[in-house]
Amino acid sequence: MSGCKRIAVLTSGGDAPGMNAAIRAATLIGRSLGAEVLGIERGYRGLLEDAIVPLQPTDVAGILREGGTILGSARCKEFHQREVRDRAREVLARRGIDGLLVIGGNGSLTGALRVADPQELGGQELAIAGVPASIDNDLGLTGLSIGVDTAMNTIVEACDKIADTATAHDRTFIVEVMGRDCGYLAMTSAIAVGADLALFPEAGKPESAIVDQIVDTIVAVRTRQAPKRTRRVIIIKAEGVSMPVDRLKTQVDARLRERAPSTDPAGIETRVTVLGHVVRGGRPSAFDRLLGSRLGNVAVRALVAGTSHKMAAWMPPVDLPPEVGVRSQADPYCWLVDLDAVLRETENLLTGKSPLARWRAGVFDQIEDARLL
Ligand code: F6P
Repeated sequence: MSGCKRIAVLTSGGDAPGMNAAIRAATLIGRSLGAEVLGIERGYRGLLEDAIVPLQPTDVAGILREGGTILGSARCKEFHQREVRDRAREVLARRGIDGLLVIGGNGSLTGALRVADPQELGGQELAIAGVPASIDNDLGLTGLSIGVDTAMNTIVEACDKIADTATAHDRTFIVEVMGRDCGYLAMTSAIAVGADLALFPEAGKPESAIVDQIVDTIVAVRTRQAPKRTRRVIIIKAEGVSMPVDRLKTQVDARLRERAPSTDPAGIETRVTVLGHVVRGGRPSAFDRLLGSRLGNVAVRALVAGTSHKMAAWMPPVDLPPEVGVRSQADPYCWLVDLDAVLRETENLLTGKSPLARWRAGVFDQIEDARLL
């Protein structure tokens, strides 16, 4: 495939802090390599509506520090339909776009593969490249996706604040964090916060076992011989654990009352905080600015060099055979990995078949004996 001369960039799915860094890098590096760079507004939806604008260096000046995405984002379910993708390809052909750079998560990268499916393309020349961006960190073959670091920092900051009031009142807080079906954010932020318990879907626990685990944790923390300031309990729950927090609270509180019937209920009741979309917003951390810039650089260079169907990845957490991934010549921390393989490994991560998913879940078994010391 010959190198791309007209590259369109889109951000799609849930926005992630650091997406703007990737847009900026793709624009500046793409132009410096002689390609024209365009921005598609509101993801695949904007592509269907031909909402495409030129991206000049001045358009991306100062955006590194902005959360969200200057291009806007959307979820576009219709893209699963062949005729809708045909319309998208028509727009790309009419605009003379020969390279599409998709910055997003699982669904967005699947959309890229579909739009550039050789059978559907016919003779149309279209190269695609992906940049992983999702606070969920649920994409395969990349150590991190853009947005994860900022989201983790946001959770840690929120939990530090919650810990102050929890300590003052000797209370238990259950804090729910985003992550869709992946427990990564809950697991890592639990470690960073020093939480007493992390609940994540990869553990595959039934509701009754989750309630038992929480009640046992609260009782263990409350009864240990330790200074008062360590009597607060922080539990981080991934949204992917399907038991709703309200039901969890009701059942935990009821069990605590059974165990200590003479205690003032106000003293043992749990409190719930759902951090929700707060976790997805905010100024990108320094690391996410760097990660977005570096992955955007590697991805746009691949397109200009005539490489297609690859995702720029950050330090893959598994060994990759050369047919699946090669180290980027532009950045030794980045790899170019086969997009099909990324999506297969993503599926394995989410269904628990990947050794990495089993390792992640197993880490909490390894530290179980240390957890309540
Ligand atoms: O994929 C990112 C994410 O923020 C998930 O963590 C969450 O489950 C979902 O998107 C929320 O989607 P929406 O913003 O469409 O409600």
